[in-house]
Amino acid sequence: GLPKQVTVYEVGPRDGLQNESAIVPVEVKAEFIDRLADAGHKVIEATSFVHPKWVPQLADADELLTRLHRRPGVRYPVLVPNERGLDRALDRGVAEIAVFASATETFAAKNLNRSLESQFEMFEPVVARALDNGVRVRAYVSMCFGDPWEGPTPIAQVVRVGERLLGLGCHELSLGDTTGVGTPGHVTALIKAFRSPERLAVHFHDTYGQALGNTLAALRAGVTTVDASTGGIGGCPYAESATGNLATEDLVWMLQGLGIDTGLDLGKLVATSTWLAGLLGRPSPSRVVQALAKG
Ligand code: HMG
Ligand code: MG
Repeated sequence: GLPKQVTVYEVGPRDGLQNESAIVPVEVKAEFIDRLADAGHKVIEATSFVHPKWVPQLADADELLTRLHRRPGVRYPVLVPNERGLDRALDRGVAEIAVFASATETFAAKNLNRSLESQFEMFEPVVARALDNGVRVRAYVSMCFGDPWEGPTPIAQVVRVGERLLGLGCHELSLGDTTGVGTPGHVTALIKAFRSPERLAVHFHDTYGQALGNTLAALRAGVTTVDASTGGIGGCPYAESATGNLATEDLVWMLQGLGIDTGLDLGKLVATSTWLAGLLGRPSPSRVVQALAKG
């Protein structure tokens, strides 16, 4: 069966903007996030407290959090890789963070400058201190289906990394298809290999056009939280050939058709993507945005 309700976890301001060649001014980012809340989003991943040289696009994280118009009932999680990032996030009164692990050795080295094993030495004190401070922690696993250097990722390897993160006390585990190589049968098999599908979220990049099909497979396997980015922007600068995330508008169109409630206003989402595309200087890759914006 399918769920009656789905939580859309919006990653546009973080996953979307981290991969844009244009540096978006901090006040535009704050307005972007405001518009997303206005369209009905209840969880908006705002930015990353990573090393500013690694991701210059998000080097203004501290200032953005100061400028953010936090609304009651809306969560604004941020990415945090290490204790330095956690200190910065706590300093800004952040209530929810996300750590991000790799399922493969090569991507752990490229994205985190760590090995598959030593990434946990980095995350363990972050999660422990966050929880001590009353901060909730989501965990990502990247390269869950395959990576450009090692090929397909063994399911057992993803489960090992993921269960270890859940064991640290993370409330949710987001399965990342960083380069978009997954297909629906693989999605079903991976989700079934986990003990508790209700704690899983899915995070599809649409590089191979599989993101919606993969999402439907995940919903059928019991997942009710789906990551998406406004207009389908996004990608990871440390993953070759990664394109944008599943577009929020494409997701909402499919869910509306299935009679699944998201609480989102599609018209406002399309207007926001069109506004952002104008600022970024390129059209939104979302098919639904393209269709409705012509309308
Ligand atoms: P490192 O070079 O090993 O860092 O990088 P270090 O621990 O050796 O520290 C070196 C210096 O950096 C120190 O300064 C630290 O203070 C400073 P020094 O003492 O030499 O003056 N430093 C920091 N400064 C500010 N903020 C920080 C910070 N950390 C250290 N947080 C590190 C390790 C993890 C920091 C680096 O590799 C990094 O920042 N990586 C982030 C890469 C990234 O953001 N990638 C994109 C997000 S992941 C993604 O997109 C995938 C996802 O969407 C899911 C999917 O699609 O699969 C989530
Ligand atoms: Mg991503």
